[in-house]
Amino acid sequence: MRLVVASNRVATPAQQSSGGLAVGLRGAMQENGGLWFGWSGDVKARPSGRPRIVSADGVTYATIDLSPEEHDLYYNGYANRTLWPLFHYRVDLAAFDRAEYPGYQRVNAKFARVMAPSLKKDDLVWVHDYHLIPLGEELRSAGCRMPLGFFLHIPFPAPEVYKALYNYKRLARHLLCYDVVGFQTRTDVDAFLAIAAQIGGDVDSATGTVQAFGRTVRCAAFPIGIDVDEFSRLAESPSAKAQLKRQLNGLGESNLIIGVDRLDYSKGLPDRLAAFERLLADYPANRRRVTLLQIAAPTRVDVPEYVDIRHELETAAGHINGRFAEFDWEPVRYINRAYKRSSLAGLYRAARVGLVTPHRDGMNLVAKEYVAAQDERDPGVLVLSQFAGAAAQMDDALIVNPYDIQDVAAALQRALVMPLAERQGRWRRLVDGLRAEDIVWWRRSFVEALAGVARRR
Ligand code: G6P
Repeated sequence: MRLVVASNRVATPAQQSSGGLAVGLRGAMQENGGLWFGWSGDVKARPSGRPRIVSADGVTYATIDLSPEEHDLYYNGYANRTLWPLFHYRVDLAAFDRAEYPGYQRVNAKFARVMAPSLKKDDLVWVHDYHLIPLGEELRSAGCRMPLGFFLHIPFPAPEVYKALYNYKRLARHLLCYDVVGFQTRTDVDAFLAIAAQIGGDVDSATGTVQAFGRTVRCAAFPIGIDVDEFSRLAESPSAKAQLKRQLNGLGESNLIIGVDRLDYSKGLPDRLAAFERLLADYPANRRRVTLLQIAAPTRVDVPEYVDIRHELETAAGHINGRFAEFDWEPVRYINRAYKRSSLAGLYRAARVGLVTPHRDGMNLVAKEYVAAQDERDPGVLVLSQFAGAAAQMDDALIVNPYDIQDVAAALQRALVMPLAERQGRWRRLVDGLRAEDIVWWRRSFVEALAGVARRR
């Protein structure tokens, strides 16, 4: 059976896309190939109605452009100013502008129009993430009868948060048009099942099955993983080492703490910097000896909240350096651009601590990549937020409450002085877990669930 994937962001060979979806799906598609639909990343005054097709390594990419209006209402609007903040528990930042939903819906209909003619009846169709929730229903209206699956890469919020959305019932009904709906964690599944029950679905929590509106939908957690060996090879490659030498030039013998994120308010970056400041204030032996390297790649630059967070962080980094820097030591290196994964892999390996403290995160693949990149003879320590989906699988990280600055500072201190044997033990258990539920396992378990639907029919 051919796998057909649709997502807003596509990692074509020419595109350096950051974010867990692009990284994860690229890994998943490389295994067996397939067809991948999505947005080209371009905004054109008069977009063509036909997709641009490129093939590489067994994957065929079909991408479409968006018009400025589509981009505004769908991507900058309903997807990234309503769903993104709300699903990350930022009701205070969510815009509830009713004019944006019809634009979002129209782009989903456009995706369906472009995809439907190339779909075959024994394809498996797998739709990804919050940009494309209505796509399944649109495909069904276009006459597509094959199994349709959906996977949400971001959290599904607690029902009381989700219900702040004026059209939450409609959105939940869109989800119930798929045959399989996948989430990152069991918490997300339970939150969705609660909503499904509230809007009239007959829910069996034990099996994750919902009977609603004449359909049977299977809901389950499929936590996304990484290709452990590929990432560990990247971290060891000669080019990573050479780049690393250049990049770390000037850090001297400092112990490195590393944070790598998209520049997003969900990542908890101001609190993270505050925790690092607290580490230097409360454990002064770290002064001159520890450096925080925070890489924050800008995205969604047209959305005002992203401009605000950028300014806030620049100020916070400047404040810490002003307070603690010496002629020969700068405590925070704050970098506002994206790096290639090969460069990051080397940096992860060189860092004594990986600091991943989002306020909310669907999964967070940086946490997993940090672990995969370590040298087993002298591994670093992962400090991980309890609110990242990854925490459900990574007990052997130092799990912290990202809002509790003192807790994070104490975990950093513990990580910096942790004895080698403990670091090795924790790392071994973490990496074994990553191998057991890696990217191939993720793709296979979801596709198997979807293929099960086809068999039952
Ligand atoms: C998150 C989302 C993805 C998205 C990525 C990058 O990981 O779940 O769907 O692609 O962020 O964001 P962007 O807006 O640049 O695609």
